[in-house]
Amino acid sequence: MTTIAVITGSVRPGRAGSAVARWIAEKVNEVDGVDARVLELADFDLPVFAEEVPPMMAPAKDPAAVAWNKALAGFDAYIFVTPEYNHSVPGALKNAIDFITPSVLANRAIGLVGYSYSAGHRPIEHLRAILVNFTTGVVGPQVNLHLATDFAGGVFAPAAFHDGEVAALVKALVAQDGALAALR
Ligand SMILES: Cc1cc2nc3c(=O)[nH]c(=O)nc-3n(C[C@H](O)[C@H](O)[C@H](O)COP(=O)(O)O)c2cc1C
Repeated sequence: MTTIAVITGSVRPGRAGSAVARWIAEKVNEVDGVDARVLELADFDLPVFAEEVPPMMAPAKDPAAVAWNKALAGFDAYIFVTPEYNHSVPGALKNAIDFITPSVLANRAIGLVGYSYSAGHRPIEHLRAILVNFTTGVVGPQVNLHLATDFAGGVFAPAAFHDGEVAALVKALVAQDGALAALR
């Protein structure tokens, strides 16, 4: 069994990210041998990172950060669902990643899902660069949703071809998890 946390990268009220994360978790859970659960970043109400010591030297002490790391810990794999804010990831997501104790993500499989008016390619590429600092296994297959076509009229209705993208993502995550499990 590969357990997967699906993390929403936006925290604003009315965010599209919740619908995307729920849909991803639903599709992932259709696959045998995986168990996905959504973690809403907004639920953790993280402050702006202002710890005295970087998390790579000591776990963050802020109670919200302790709860965030506790909720993240123990999954085999993670899927970050990110919108595009000013050609990158939302500050809230980068801030939340800054709070993560590196051992929590170490040797875990990671998948990326993006959405925007350019299908989330830029924030996904930025996430790849950020997450390389964590010694993880970020997989190549990704899901790119377009706000003009997959959210027509403001309603999330992803085109059918995205089902294949999700299937490829899950397959890669399960394989990566299998390979990395021995290193954890
Ligand atoms: C601060 C901000 C910056 C944004 N910048 C971009 C952008 O650079 N490119 C883009 O395609 N969409 C941009 N958007 C539109 C978002 O992708 C869109 O509002 C999306 O629904 C945001 O995700 P959320 O609803 O989960 O917060 C921006 C939105 C916000 C709030």
